[in-house]
Amino acid sequence: MPQGAAAGEAAAAGAASPAAPPAHIEIDDLCQTFRRAGMVTQALDGVDLLVAPSELVVVVGPSGCGKSTLLRIAAGLLPFTSGRVRIGGRDVTGPQTELGIVFQSPVLLDWRNVLENVLIQVELRGMDPRRYRERAERLLADVGLGDFQDRRPRELSGGMRQRVAIVRALIHDPPLLMMDEPFGALDALTREQMRIDLEKLWLAQRHTLIFVTHGIAEAVALADRVVVMTPRPGRIERIIPIDLPRPRDKAAVTSARFTEYVDEITECFMRYGVIRY
Ligand SMILES: Nc1ncnc2c1ncn2[C@@H]1O[C@H](COP(=O)(O)OP(=O)(O)OP(=O)(O)O)[C@@H](O)[C@H]1O
Ligand SMILES: [Mg+2]
Repeated sequence: MPQGAAAGEAAAAGAASPAAPPAHIEIDDLCQTFRRAGMVTQALDGVDLLVAPSELVVVVGPSGCGKSTLLRIAAGLLPFTSGRVRIGGRDVTGPQTELGIVFQSPVLLDWRNVLENVLIQVELRGMDPRRYRERAERLLADVGLGDFQDRRPRELSGGMRQRVAIVRALIHDPPLLMMDEPFGALDALTREQMRIDLEKLWLAQRHTLIFVTHGIAEAVALADRVVVMTPRPGRIERIIPIDLPRPRDKAAVTSARFTEYVDEITECFMRYGVIRY
């Protein structure tokens, strides 16, 4: 993870410093144009991004700027128009297996209980769910669902369902996790608690994490670096290394420095007319 001024500057430029470890994710001049029924939409334009192993990168940008498109391309779920995307040094040409994904709505199977919903991930990968049961129980306990593993999704709150989806994404211990507005549908208090719990999980597991959000404060609170995107066609406006101590506790998220980061990103969006006061 980039630390210190020199690494911070290199990171801010989106470039690896000579001493940096090989990037986990390399995105180079990525462009994406959708053509459908005579409609042409340029979603991404010349996106360059390097993500280091174990780094927590948050992408923040206005609605429709191409955040989900970027994530789906990096996950190998969507073919792209031009550029290059590599994960672990290999070109992404199809769905990635060493990956966990969490979407905005958790998509749980209502005829399966919580534990079974988590284990479906390993079943679909042809692995023996019995070998993962203990890990599933431990992870569920870690996110406060220890007593809920026999419940059905309909018996859970929105935040609890999203926790199940996070555990499901983590169960096979992928080195890389992608989250597309996972807390978007949650109330502000639950959302803040989820942010705190996700940071704990990430600090314990240290997978590489790319997290997409509309929330500026949420981005600053979570990220090692915040990637600020422009309105469509999505380009990277700037990459801001967040130099705040972890865990990002109350002191960190109420500090003057935290507010400065939030202001910097807010002013970016004001310049693009995304936020107008
Ligand atoms: N499969 C598709 N076919 C055609 N156009 C698409 C497709 N997927 C996305 N788009 C278009 O690409 C643009 C970027 O969409 P995307 O979903 O990546 O935005 P986003 O930044 O994730 O937005 P939001 O914050 O609202 O989720 C939008 O104009 C969208 O209409
Ligand atoms: Mg989206």
